Amino acid sequence: MAQTPGLVADSPGLESRHRVWRVLQAVAAGAYADAALERELAQGTLSPLDRGLVTELAYGAIRQRRLLDAWINAHAKVVAERQPPALRWLLHVGLYQILFSERVPVSAAVSTSVALTRRIGLARLAPTVNAILRAVVRRRDSLSGPLAAWDGLSLPADPAERLGLCHSLPAWLATALLAWLPPERAEAFARAAATPPPLDLRINPLRTDRASQQAAFAAAGVVAEPLADQPLALTLPGRSGDLRALPGFREGCWSVQDRHAQAVVPLLAPRPGERILDACAAPGGKTTQIAETLRGHGELWAVDRSEARLRRVRANAERLGQLEGIELLAADAGELAVLRPDWIGSFDAILLDAPCSGLGTLARHADARWRVTPALIDELLLVQSRLLEAMAPLLRPGGRLVYATCTVHPQENRGRIDAFLRHHPSWQLQQEQQWWPAEGGGDGFYVARLAAPALNGA
Ligand SMILES: C[S@@+](CC[C@H](N)C(=O)[O-])C[C@H]1O[C@@H](n2cnc3c(N)ncnc32)[C@H](O)[C@@H]1O
Repeated sequence: MAQTPGLVADSPGLESRHRVWRVLQAVAAGAYADAALERELAQGTLSPLDRGLVTELAYGAIRQRRLLDAWINAHAKVVAERQPPALRWLLHVGLYQILFSERVPVSAAVSTSVALTRRIGLARLAPTVNAILRAVVRRRDSLSGPLAAWDGLSLPADPAERLGLCHSLPAWLATALLAWLPPERAEAFARAAATPPPLDLRINPLRTDRASQQAAFAAAGVVAEPLADQPLALTLPGRSGDLRALPGFREGCWSVQDRHAQAVVPLLAPRPGERILDACAAPGGKTTQIAETLRGHGELWAVDRSEARLRRVRANAERLGQLEGIELLAADAGELAVLRPDWIGSFDAILLDAPCSGLGTLARHADARWRVTPALIDELLLVQSRLLEAMAPLLRPGGRLVYATCTVHPQENRGRIDAFLRHHPSWQLQQEQQWWPAEGGGDGFYVARLAAPALNGA
């Protein structure tokens, strides 16, 4: 995108803030944060440093929306939600830098915000922006010691309101967390949801081994550490962004996969020669992991409702050298017994990695906390139960069914399993695990392994 001459020269960093502001506007209008950011980064040239700054400020300000609004409410004449949106998001760009950014001096945060006000054609509001931001800076300067981003606000007494405000969580989620967890664990969850997650990889044992890949990374100056709990996992501290240039990617030596996501397939325990169904497969993180375990011996079906997402399974499998071991089918997994009656009673093991609210991966998706609602979760509960029910007739007697989600909502997890077991009393819950995002460093995940009765039962 063309820079506006003169203004940029007057205010270094203005172009970056302008892009952040446009991302915030787009997300408020319904765009996904990663897509809106990608669009802004794709236009014109920005230095790697500026790209990093735009990413940090955009994702940070989207995440911290509720807290930033509270600062506006404390210092503006009009509350945030009734501000003109262009001004509200511009204030968010400035406030985020003042309250959170370690690399932007407060004076630069204020001056670029005032310059941006003029650049976007709101020059008459420049004094207002200046006054609000300076009032926040004065308030913060009047306090001593290391400050949290909410220090200087008067906080609500109600614990859920307070948790939600300080950590920018929607009220329903803060209330739910305090019902599910003791206060200190709820707070740890909230902090983890705003902390960049680790970057974990899974080694493809058909192409290399962990020690060789670690050595290849070291030779390229990339720090990669093995994870004790996952035999094929490496974690790359401090890495993010485009990883395709790293050693071994094009050769299919590894996939990006969170450490807890990697723990799901071992619970399914696929064995060479077996017939396996991955019922919600795209983009194929777990399908390819199953294929790596089967080593070409057996039959693996990858089903997904979305044809477009299924193409990503194909691309991933191709890169990893596993395309021949995977059969793809675009279909509603809830209809498989009708669409493929020949599949009834035929699978040794089924993985149902169900669509879910994604509350275990909030740190990866800046806007997710504002998209998920209790009404959406109610709809997901119906989908999850319908899919679980649809898997039962496809398993052979004694077969195993693994149900997984990347959420921490008890109703989407154990709640679905309990509902299933009420309808199928002869099935057994053999194992289950819930990982919380703050604990163990990875995403929040749930997994349960069920065993079908050995002889045809319920
Ligand atoms: C959590 S993602 C699966 C992630 C995948 N297992 C992996 O490890 O890469 C859920 C997937 O379920 C698919 N899906 C949702 N509803 C479905 C349905 N009724 N039938 C089949 N697939 C469905 C979505 O398109 C999405 O790709």
